[in-house]
Amino acid sequence: MDKNGKVISVINMKGGVGKTTLCVGIGEYLANFLGKKILFIDVDPQFNTTQTLMDYFDLEEEYMNDFRQNKTIRKLFESVTSISEKPKLPNPSDVILSFEKSPNIDLICGNIDLIFDDNQGDSARSRRIKKFISENNLRRVYDFIFIDCPPTISFYTDAALNASDYYLVPNRIDRYSILGIKLLKQVIDRLSYDEDLDIKPLGIVYTMVGKPGLKSQKLKETFETSAVLNDIDIFTSQTTYVNDLMVGLQGNISSNYKKSREDIHEVASEFLDRVERR
Ligand SMILES: Nc1ncnc2c1ncn2[C@@H]1O[C@H](COP(=O)(O)OP(=O)(O)OP(=O)(O)O)[C@@H](O)[C@H]1O
Ligand SMILES: [Mg+2]
Repeated sequence: MDKNGKVISVINMKGGVGKTTLCVGIGEYLANFLGKKILFIDVDPQFNTTQTLMDYFDLEEEYMNDFRQNKTIRKLFESVTSISEKPKLPNPSDVILSFEKSPNIDLICGNIDLIFDDNQGDSARSRRIKKFISENNLRRVYDFIFIDCPPTISFYTDAALNASDYYLVPNRIDRYSILGIKLLKQVIDRLSYDEDLDIKPLGIVYTMVGKPGLKSQKLKETFETSAVLNDIDIFTSQTTYVNDLMVGLQGNISSNYKKSREDIHEVASEFLDRVERR
């Protein structure tokens, strides 16, 4: 039966809040434990999702010597070189990697060289991911397409949001939490005005939660009573701080460690529930 896949941007205008870890964590869990077919799209020039998966699949050398030149997200944004030429999107097989070890996981690799491409203000090109998904009927192939976004306002976050049905916001409570989500709301409001944006908030997920202290409780209260929560609510499940995700020998994959596996099981279940309900 054909699928009715959903596209989700994992995004926050703040760095280091656990976007990549949550994105890969939920996707890998859905793929390898619940049999869902997943495509990751890495639009962050830091390409951390790509690094995590290349490490997981033992393909770091292939990435550096081959994929990086020929098979990354950069291909989707290539420009035409003549005025008479119509932009042509690549075929799925030109940009999507699949893996023997996990047949339910596919990836469009990120690329650090994106920083050299000047796409700013090119609104046609910021619809390329959306077009690529719809022209190739990728919603029929995948249950979920996760886009890991950079932590800054950029052409690439526009391109991700334009393509997405939902956005999911990992958030670590600190002094700047409110600002990250406020900026994100501004980006979405602007795009909604400029483009036919059809995107819904899926919720905020607290990440890297540590032992509760008086000061962090206070920051959390300030966050939860702020106006940024008028448009988006908070998951009841969360991810706790698990040191191994930072330094563990089994990489930055949540299901590889007991505590983060329990967390990701809860978050992935709530994620499925929320997608179903919205
Ligand atoms: N639950 C967790 N427990 C412990 N460490 C974590 C957890 N989640 C993420 N980390 C670590 O925190 C750091 C930042 O996480 P991550 O790269 O996922 O954030 P990010 O929001 O994607 O960052 P960026 O804005 O740079 O893209 C990484 O070193 C990661 O391994
Ligand atoms: Mg990241």
